Amino acid sequence: MTTEPNLTYIAGTASLPATTPPGIQLRPMEVSDAVEIAELWMTAYPPEVVGGESVATVEADIVAAMDGEYGPFLQSASPIAMRADGAIVGSLQTVADTSWDRTPRGPFILDIFVSPDARRSGVARVLLRFAKDALHAQGMGTVGLRVLRDNEAARGLYESEDFREWRP
Ligand SMILES: CC(C)(COP(=O)(O)OP(=O)(O)OC[C@H]1O[C@@H](n2cnc3c(N)ncnc32)[C@H](O)[C@@H]1OP(=O)(O)O)[C@@H](O)C(=O)NCCC(=O)NCCS
Repeated sequence: MTTEPNLTYIAGTASLPATTPPGIQLRPMEVSDAVEIAELWMTAYPPEVVGGESVATVEADIVAAMDGEYGPFLQSASPIAMRADGAIVGSLQTVADTSWDRTPRGPFILDIFVSPDARRSGVARVLLRFAKDALHAQGMGTVGLRVLRDNEAARGLYESEDFREWRP
């Protein structure tokens, strides 16, 4: 029997207020942020994930996601985190639903990533809570996501934010 490399998680959208790290501001992403978010993605993931991608192909994918390629994009639940100088240091992208098999119906986080030099200061946690709050305010009670089983940082984040494994 082979072990599936991905885990699917689900959580309720009710959350405690988040403490935003000093000097960080959050707002919903805009299409005009796509290039900078693509550059961030290239630095946030390890080389084996980035592979042969270029900023242009990643930017096109982000724009496609915002256009509904992976399900109805929920801009209000797709925050970016910015430093005071305007640099984007974190991004989270959410759709209202996916068309994929083996994912829970309803809101789904497509991706979340934080700049290596901004990690472990709570940026991902406030991005998640911003997204949860936006979903909760719109009456959406759960949110799902997928994570690689061996991604200890992401699993630590999700499990500390009450995500639990979901099986079809
Ligand atoms: C996963 C990721 C988004 C976390 O971002 P971050 O801003 O550093 O996370 P936070 O500072 O908000 O951490 C919140 C909690 O997550 C957990 N966590 C974060 N990094 C961790 C690590 N390296 N090891 C173990 N737990 C970790 C901890 O519980 C942490 O709380 P604590 O710092 O009080 O112990 C970041 O490591 C990243 O961008 N990784 C590459 C992209 C990726 O793998 N995305 C997930 C796709 S499913």
